[in-house]
Amino acid sequence: MSRHKKIVHENEPVKFNKHSHKIQALKGFKDILPEHQKFWNFVAEKVKDTAEDYSFQKIDTPVLESALLFQRTIGEETDIVAKEMYTFTDKSGELITMRPEMTAPVARAYIEHGMISWPQPVKLWYLASLFRHENTQAGRLREHHQFGFEVLGGAEPELDAELVIVAQGLYKSFGLEAEIEINSIGCSTCRREYIKSLKKFLRDKKVCETCEGRLERNPLRVLDCKEKKCQENLVEAPQILDSLCEDCKNHFVKVLEILDDNSIGYNLNPYLVRGLDYYNRTVFEIFTKSQTEDKMALGGGGRYDYLIEQIGGRPTPAVGFAGGLERVIIKIRELGFEIKEEGHGDVFVAQLGDEARKKCMKLFNELRKHGVKTREAFNKKGLTEQLEIANRLKVKYALILGQKEIMDGTIIIRDMESGIQEIIDLEKVVPEIKRRLLGMNGLKVYSEKE
Ligand code: HAM
Repeated sequence: MSRHKKIVHENEPVKFNKHSHKIQALKGFKDILPEHQKFWNFVAEKVKDTAEDYSFQKIDTPVLESALLFQRTIGEETDIVAKEMYTFTDKSGELITMRPEMTAPVARAYIEHGMISWPQPVKLWYLASLFRHENTQAGRLREHHQFGFEVLGGAEPELDAELVIVAQGLYKSFGLEAEIEINSIGCSTCRREYIKSLKKFLRDKKVCETCEGRLERNPLRVLDCKEKKCQENLVEAPQILDSLCEDCKNHFVKVLEILDDNSIGYNLNPYLVRGLDYYNRTVFEIFTKSQTEDKMALGGGGRYDYLIEQIGGRPTPAVGFAGGLERVIIKIRELGFEIKEEGHGDVFVAQLGDEARKKCMKLFNELRKHGVKTREAFNKKGLTEQLEIANRLKVKYALILGQKEIMDGTIIIRDMESGIQEIIDLEKVVPEIKRRLLGMNGLKVYSEKE
C-alpha cells in the first residue's frame, strides 16, 4: 500500500470503510462539552461585565474575510501569514481566509461602516473563534477563541494604559494574577533607525536557521526568538528603548506613569516585539505567575496606528488587546477554582399519571411565563425518579401533582433542601412560588409582573 495520503478531490465521492474510517474532530480542533461550558460561561460573563464597565460596545464579524486583509496587515513574513492561515479559493475564484485574528477585521468594519464619523474613540469588544494552522500542543490549537478590546480613533497614552489596566483587572476577575510585560517598539521612523543598528550588530553573530531568514526580512523578530543561540546574542544587542524618538519616548513614559499611579506592576521587556507586524509604540503581553518553566502568553496587545490606513482608511490611531480563552480556562482549571454550575432551575414540576402530566405541562408554561426557571421530566413516570432529577438539577422546590391532588384541587410544594412538604391550592401555586423565590436570586421580575 502506498505510504502517501490519498488526496480526495472536492467532487469525488468518498468511499467509506466503516472499520478504517473513524471520523473524528480535526487535529487542533476541540469540542466544548456540556461539562466544560461552565468555564466558558464564567469567562465570557466576566469579559462582558468588564466591557460594559469600560463602555466597550460588542462587535461580531464574519469568520471568512478576503485573504488580502490579513496579508496587508499582519505581514507577509510573519508566521501567521507565511505558514498558518487557512486560505482557499472559493467557488467564485476569490482568495478567502478564515480569520486568524480579530484586529484587522475590526479595523475593516470600522472603515466599512463609517465609524470615523462616530464620537471618537470607538471602543469595541468581541469574543470570537480564530483559525491558525499551528503545530498543536498544550494551549496551542488550530481553532482557538479570543476575547478582545479595541479602541479606534485615539492616540493618547491614557488609552494604552487603560487597556493594560482593563487586562490586569480582567485576569484578576478570573482569579488569575497577571504578569505584564511591556515595551515600546517606536514609530516607523525611529524603528527604521533601530533596525539598521540591530542588523549591523547581528551581522557577524550566529543565529538559528529561522532567524537567518528573519535577519533580512524582519530582524525585530530575532529579538523574541526562543532559541538559546539567538538569546545569547541579545545580552549585548542595542535596545530599542534607546532608539526611540522624543515623541515615542514621551508617549511610553506617560503610559508607564499612569500604570505606576494605578499601582499596576509590570516588567519592562526590551525584547518584546509581538508576532504581528501592525504594531507600533506600546506592545504588551500577559502571562501568569507560573511554577513551571514554560511561560504561556494568556493575552497580548498594543498600539496599531498605521493599520487602518494600510487597509484604505484615513490615518486613525488605535490600540487593542486580546486574550486566549482556552489558555485562561487551562489556568483556571489548573488552580482548581470552584465554578458554579449555570442553568439550574428554581422549580421542578413532577407529575403522577396522565391527567397530572397534562396539568403539569400547562403549569410548566405558566411558571415560565412568569419568569420562574422551571424544569421537568415529562417522559418519566415514577416519583422517585423525577425527584432524583430535581435533586441533580439543584432546584429549590419540587411541585408534585398526583391523582389525589387533582381531585382536591391542590398541589404539593416540597422544599428540596429540608424535604418539608406542604399542600396548597393549585390555583395559588404560581403566586406562592413567586413570593417564595422573590429576593432569593434578586428576581425582580416576579414583583414587576404581579
Ligand atoms: P496574539 O498574541 O496572536 O494577538 O493572540 C492573543 C492571544 O490569543 C495569545 O496571547 C494567546 O493567549 C491566544 N492564542 C493565540 N494563538 C493561539 C492558539 N493557536 N491556541 C490557543 N490560544 C492562542 C492577536 O491575535 C492580536 N489580534 C491581539 C490584539 C488585539 N492586538 C491588538 N488588539
